Amino acid sequence: MTETVPSEDLKSAEEAVDLPEIGDLSRYDALMQTIRNRVTVRKFDRDYVVPEAHYDLILEAARHAPSGANAQPWQLIVVRDQPTKDKITEYFVAEQRFRAKAKMKFPTPDYRGLATAPGFIVVCSDMRWVNAFPVLNDGSDLDRMYHENAERILLQSVAASTMSAHLAAAALGYNVWWVTAIGQEEAQRAMRPLLDIPDDISVLDIFLFGPAAAAPYKRYRRPMEEIAHYDRYNRAHQMSEDELKDWIKSRRHRVMYKDSSRVD
Ligand SMILES: Cc1cc2nc3c(=O)[nH]c(=O)nc-3n(C[C@H](O)[C@H](O)[C@H](O)COP(=O)(O)O)c2cc1C
Repeated sequence: MTETVPSEDLKSAEEAVDLPEIGDLSRYDALMQTIRNRVTVRKFDRDYVVPEAHYDLILEAARHAPSGANAQPWQLIVVRDQPTKDKITEYFVAEQRFRAKAKMKFPTPDYRGLATAPGFIVVCSDMRWVNAFPVLNDGSDLDRMYHENAERILLQSVAASTMSAHLAAAALGYNVWWVTAIGQEEAQRAMRPLLDIPDDISVLDIFLFGPAAAAPYKRYRRPMEEIAHYDRYNRAHQMSEDELKDWIKSRRHRVMYKDSSRVD
């Protein structure tokens, strides 16, 4: 039986642990169907109302993610209030305009679609959780190195939880959208008052989901032979500086969007 009710009772949760026989493909196939069909859209059917139970199911998936030191350093704010969604959207649209002016050459999507998302979850973390990971806290160079590593552990932990939530949404039939672009302190300052977020808490991502406004499309995936290595790093996979530059210049927009003429 799939567990849908949060279980605080570790003993019964332990008893309920149930993996299939090694090699039995039935759950793998169901999981891959969800993974393959988790597709980003950047505009949703704004009239759809997410049933409250779906938030529970999605947050429950986030809650079970693995994390460094089992710190579970994620906080998830479900935003149902349309004026708040609109204000957050305004920030992103302004950021999009700024990037266009700054000539970053990044094919920034149309962030107006944020306001159309029926499911709108702001993913936050308390960055002080880095202290739960191996750090020295003595101000030394060595400490800086460990702190850098600790920050990566924290961000990977939150990403693992976010991914669980995205997959749960996809398993429920929703399209999803993962929005970051909010690393800057300025973005933090803009976002915090809208959601009454304390200063120690950072907004890391926005997770949008809902029925798509137009037919979703599957994006390019690198073939297996480009990413898989066995026993040693296959240097044939290593790109030169020029190849990488060329990829960013000529291919990036084509893998992000359906075609070069379209930015969604
Ligand atoms: C860590 C991460 C950050 C992302 N940040 C953004 C973002 O800031 N804005 C955006 O429109 N899409 C963002 N995306 C969505 C990606 O562009 C999208 O997943 C990718 O193009 C592949 O498309 P797919 O999700 O349909 O497979 C992000 C995805 C990930 C995993």
